[in-house]
Order: sequence, then structure tokens, then C-alpha cells
Amino acid sequence: MIFQTLTGTIFLTTLGLLCSPTAYAATTVIPSNSFSSYSTFESYWAYLYPWGSDHNGSARMKGSSSDHSNIVVASNTLSLIATPTSNLSPPTSSADPHPAIHYASGAIHAKSQITVTSANGYTISGEFSASTAKGTWPAFWLTAVNGWPPEADIGEWKGTANNWYNTFNTSSVVRSDLVSWPTDLSFHSLKAVLTAESNNADVKIQFYMDNTLRATQYGQGFVGKPMWLIINLQMEGSSGSPGPTGTTTYKIRNVEVTRTGS
Ligand SMILES: *[C@@H]1O[C@H](CO)[C@@H](O)[C@H](O)[C@H]1NC(C)=O
Ligand SMILES: *[C@@H]1O[C@H](CO)[C@@H](O)[C@H](O)[C@H]1NC(C)=O
Repeated sequence: MIFQTLTGTIFLTTLGLLCSPTAYAATTVIPSNSFSSYSTFESYWAYLYPWGSDHNGSARMKGSSSDHSNIVVASNTLSLIATPTSNLSPPTSSADPHPAIHYASGAIHAKSQITVTSANGYTISGEFSASTAKGTWPAFWLTAVNGWPPEADIGEWKGTANNWYNTFNTSSVVRSDLVSWPTDLSFHSLKAVLTAESNNADVKIQFYMDNTLRATQYGQGFVGKPMWLIINLQMEGSSGSPGPTGTTTYKIRNVEVTRTGS
């Protein structure tokens, strides 16, 4: 009898562990070494924005597996490099509000889309050396695959010594929390933890800098909506103008994306 009871106890304990793996499971979507070589980089990331080379500033993104003048991977670090140019055609951005193109620069996006559901969240982190100079507009952000919003900005520097954490519920309903950012180009870490709220519609986003929680924001109806993760060095636009007459380099390392839950 004692033997049977012990066996039953062990069986129930094993069953319990098998039935509740969600509390422990975490799946690596992008490992921290994705900038270790171009072949590793290209298995997790694609060149440019998901929609092409142009967006809301004066930089046109340029790069491919055979053109690494503005998108460079070396020493486990991604460098996005903006250089002044006057000869890119067409001369204005194809994206609203169609600013004149003054720079060639770099953007990349994760091949895996980020979709928070009631069963799984995400932790997205990295280390950043970001310019805060007027006219430089680096970012590390999530934006809707279909329509817009959702958008959540984990890193967005707009030409002053601040990082902006933003979550857009609509194009005009946005929550922004600013944290001061050193101007010396030293690396600092940013992290966003995304989880579904109990209403199964809204997403809670906890934003960290250097492992300290700095802001908590809520995205209305973000559950189930796929998002792109983008890293780009845009120029001018919201960060002021004129931008620098020399080269600007935005460096990123140890980017990691983990899906938590099932
Ligand atoms: C412009 O792009 C940045 C990211 O680079 C984004 O945070 C911002 O919401 C965009 N602004 C507009 C008006 O589209
Ligand atoms: C966005 O919606 C969420 C969920 O309803 C709400 O908690 C949050 O305050 C809203 N943000 C803004 C800026 O209104």
C-alpha cells in the first residue's frame, strides 16, 4: 500500500508538470547572436522597411545582400549609417508627407511578425548607441502589418536627449513617456514586455531602460494583430532640420526576441 501511494504521488506530480508547461515555456524568435554574420543576419532579418525604402523622413533606405554601404553587420553589432546625398532618384520620398530625400541610410525588419495573443506574449530587447543630434531619427519599433495602428515605439530618438516610448491607440490617441538618454553614444539597453490583458483585447507594454521599468502603456485592441519589428535610422522629419552634414551611425547589438507562454 505504501508503495502504491508513493507511485501515485509521483505519477500525479509528473502529470502536474506536463499539464502546466505554459508558465515556464519561452521560445527564442530572434537569438542574441543574429548580428554575428551576414548569413545569420539574413536568416532572421530582411533589408529595408517591410514596404520598401521610403518612409516619413528625408532618408531613403538602401541595402541588400550585395550592398552593405548603409547596413553593416560586424563584431556582433549592426550599424545603420546615414550619409548626405543629393543624387537619389526620385528626389522625394514615396511615403506621406513626401519629404525631399537628403540622405541614404539603413533600415531592417524582423522576418517573424510579432502577434500577442491571450496564450502568448513577447519580450523584445537590445542595446543601442543612438544619436540624439538634431535631424537624426533612429528607432526600434513595432508597427501594424495590416492597416495602422497598432504601433509601439520601444526606442525613438527625435533629435533631443530623450528616448520616447509611445503607444498609438489611433493615429491621434497616443501615450508618450520620455526618458532622458545620454548624448555620448554609449550603449544602453531597452526592453519591452508585451502581454495580453484579461479582457483578451488590449496589450500591456512594460518599457525598461537599463533593466529599470520606466513606463507602462496599454495598446487598445492590439491582441491578435500582427506587427513588424523595425530598426531604422530615419533623418530630419520629426527630429528637426537641417540634419548633420556628416555621417551618422546608429549601432545596435544583442537584440533578442522571446515568445513567452505557449
Ligand atoms: C514615423 O516613423 C516613426 C518611426 O521611425 C514612427 O514612430 C512615427 O510614428 C512615424 N510618424 C508618422 C507620422 O507616421
Ligand atoms: C489606449 O487604450 C487603452 C485600453 O483601453 C487604455 O488603457 C489607454 O489609456 C489608452 N491610451 C490612451 C493614450 O488613451
